[in-house]
Amino acid sequence: MQITVNGSAREIDVDEQMPLLWVLRDELKLTGTKFGCGGGYCGACTIHLDGRPTRACLTPASFAEGKQITTIEGLSENGDHPLQQAWIEHNVPQCGYCQSGQLMSAAALLATNASPSDSDIDGAMTGNLCRCGTYPRIKAAIKTAAT
Ligand code: FES
Repeated sequence: MQITVNGSAREIDVDEQMPLLWVLRDELKLTGTKFGCGGGYCGACTIHLDGRPTRACLTPASFAEGKQITTIEGLSENGDHPLQQAWIEHNVPQCGYCQSGQLMSAAALLATNASPSDSDIDGAMTGNLCRCGTYPRIKAAIKTAAT
């Protein structure tokens, strides 16, 4: 089947039920998308499907056909997305494992809501867990990147 990842058409030969997470990581070597729980609970595997934040661990490959898939590798050309810059400014990551998922959820929020309120941010980010507890820095960085 053919899927479109970060603007490029990619041909993949996989079971159509294979979770998109493994297509991205194992077939396409896009390892920025992380495996955390595998059950839709942690948000580490968050990507965008047609701009919407989506759990790649729960999404069958066939569901992505005809849709635009964006991973952390495609969020910007050179790490210059305003959120990536704000992440650096605020020294957000601790261990870093969950951060690509955090960034993808935050990017989806700002794409539809350029000036989110505290509760908008809380609502958009509630499904992304961070065991290091970087939540205050994540929130501060989102506010910095917001207009
Ligand atoms: Fe997909 Fe945790 S790995 S939500």
